[in-house]
Amino acid sequence: MAGQVEGKVALVTGGASGIGEAVVELFAREGATVIATDIDELRGPELARRITKAGGKAIFLEQDVTSEERWVEIAAEIAKRYGRLDVLVSNAGIGIAVPSIVDMTLSDWRRQNAINLDGVFLSVKHCLPLMRKTGGGSIVMMSSLAGLRGSPGLSAYSATKGGVRLFAKSIAMECAAAGDGIRVNSVHPGIIDTPIWGKIPTGATGNQGNAPIDPEERARVVTPLGRAGQAAEIAGGVLYLASDASRYVTGTELVIDGGMNAGGVPRRA
Ligand SMILES: NC(=O)c1ccc[n+]([C@@H]2O[C@H](COP(=O)([O-])OP(=O)(O)OC[C@H]3O[C@@H](n4cnc5c(N)ncnc54)[C@H](O)[C@@H]3O)[C@@H](O)[C@H]2O)c1
Repeated sequence: MAGQVEGKVALVTGGASGIGEAVVELFAREGATVIATDIDELRGPELARRITKAGGKAIFLEQDVTSEERWVEIAAEIAKRYGRLDVLVSNAGIGIAVPSIVDMTLSDWRRQNAINLDGVFLSVKHCLPLMRKTGGGSIVMMSSLAGLRGSPGLSAYSATKGGVRLFAKSIAMECAAAGDGIRVNSVHPGIIDTPIWGKIPTGATGNQGNAPIDPEERARVVTPLGRAGQAAEIAGGVLYLASDASRYVTGTELVIDGGMNAGGVPRRA
């Protein structure tokens, strides 16, 4: 049976860890040729080797999504190797948390924006021409539940994810108006058990003491389904948006959050 993205060429930024890694693995299992990019030069090549060994098609290219120069090179490399790009998953992101916005430095605010928002802008600017050349495709931007609701301690992060949400809708409208066959959607994960939580400084976002935030513990309290999501559960949604099963879907937002955005349920003991 043909895979759901059989024969497609897909680029996944931030592909070395967490949600990006799960997307790379799932796309490769479903028949795509995957280009995973990341700043992580240890996990990235290892992931590509693992997939190739299992019979899938994947390569790793080192990339900092904030560098426009590197975006020019990445797009040229994909054009040279494959002559096409069908799927772009703009996933790379970080979360900088502070107890209060008055504690945030301007340089941290700018770093937050550079990776989560400038990086997504650059991905579209430099990949769209190649996607248009071969008649269309799908762009999936990784936003967050924090792009739909306020998040104390994570206001800068929320601002970037809210920006990504409307950037996706606006590019969806541009592409529809151009009739270029490119669909654009955003994905909004809730609390997902990935390494990102361990990278958030202690003391921020209301977590007590010196322990890093435990996503499972946090999700048990605030998520209607009572647990954190797994990266693979987000990858499944990204696969749907990348595949032809979603050919009538553009400009929308796919919330995958264990029910958090729908409302609250009585807290469990
Ligand atoms: N985990 C969650 O609970 C959650 C919830 C909502 C949204 N998200 C979003 O999902 C995306 C993936 O996050 P994750 O949870 O898998 O985290 P993660 O930390 O496991 O993975 C993020 C990847 O992005 C890479 N990266 C960081 N800065 C980069 C840069 N400048 N250039 C290129 N790559 C860079 C990291 O090296 C890492 O491999 C992010 O955009 C994040 O905001 C995560």
